[in-house]
Amino acid sequence: MSVRILGTGSYLPPKIVTNDDLSKSLDTSDEWIWSHTGIRSRHIAEADDCTSTMAAKAAQAALESAGVAPAEIGLIIVATSTPDYATFPSTACLVQAALGCSECGAYDLQAACAGFVYALEQARCWAKVNKGAKALVIGAETLSRIVDWRDRGSCILFGDGAGAVVVGEAEGEGPAAHTVLWADGKGASFIYRDGGTRLKPQPGMFPIPTLVLQGHDVFAFAVRALAKVTNQLCEKLGTTPAALDRVFAHQANGRIIEAVARRMKLPIEKFYLNLETTGNTSAASIPIALDEARRKGELKDGMKIVLCGFGAGLTYAGTYLQWPHL
Ligand code: COA
Repeated sequence: MSVRILGTGSYLPPKIVTNDDLSKSLDTSDEWIWSHTGIRSRHIAEADDCTSTMAAKAAQAALESAGVAPAEIGLIIVATSTPDYATFPSTACLVQAALGCSECGAYDLQAACAGFVYALEQARCWAKVNKGAKALVIGAETLSRIVDWRDRGSCILFGDGAGAVVVGEAEGEGPAAHTVLWADGKGASFIYRDGGTRLKPQPGMFPIPTLVLQGHDVFAFAVRALAKVTNQLCEKLGTTPAALDRVFAHQANGRIIEAVARRMKLPIEKFYLNLETTGNTSAASIPIALDEARRKGELKDGMKIVLCGFGAGLTYAGTYLQWPHL
């Protein structure tokens, strides 16, 4: 029995903050941000949105695209580094209640920007052993509530949003697919969040900006990590990166993706890019990009795809699939 992606969905909050907007309160410019990152604007959640509400909206869209009812979902995994509550309840439980998925398990997974790939692998394994069962895998983040808006070296990178996929059984054996999950805790100090508080705004209560980033170190790690997982996956499946149709790399910085393309001697066109208007949405970036590509008709059955992410931890991970088979 094989497993496939049955549908995708995403949600980006309507408020858009451009580089020019940022330059009004920060010593920066559209020219600097664009030339160093490939980002022009990002979506920022309004006070009535938080990670669970955006996750639920993306999940609802994924259920509709899959033609699956909430009652059919047996598992919800939310990959996030910005859960509504500092520890519990999990954001996934809030999403379960919002969607009305009455009979299912739900939990959060924290592997930073690589979290969606980690969560997708857990859902794939779960769906394989639970015949006929369907899972919702969601990446959702409200990074705007943890970045330090006074730090021009980091705040310009991030945006808010959510992406989701529904995973379930496919007919027959399905084509070969593979996932690799990696971590390197020696780089834990390169990007971290110190302290923390509830992210769902309450009257009179403000989260503390606490994201700390060593940009150069993360940049160098990211290029090595994305190239490594993509090469490993191709090697494992007896193919080459040149034979891939599309790479959905974590949308952190366009210059990182360009450096990966150069390192792997691949044309940049193989890499899906949407960070110009989303910024880095962490665990949400890969499912948002996948949903956008599907809605544009850019995902065709049988396309050879790699999803690859990296982030705090340090974590990195990749999945090779032949769309939509996992
Ligand atoms: N606007 C204007 N100037 C800025 C700036 C901004 N937003 N941010 C930094 N600068 C300045 C610095 O102060 C520095 O000035 P100086 O030379 O006078 O000291 C100069 O630009 C170069 O800074 P540097 O940090 O070397 O820039 P960079 O080319 O490495 O770009 C990042 C910084 C953060 C864009 C880049 O390192 C990066 O994207 N790293 C990866 C981060 C990432 O992906 N994190 C998420 C992981 S999931």
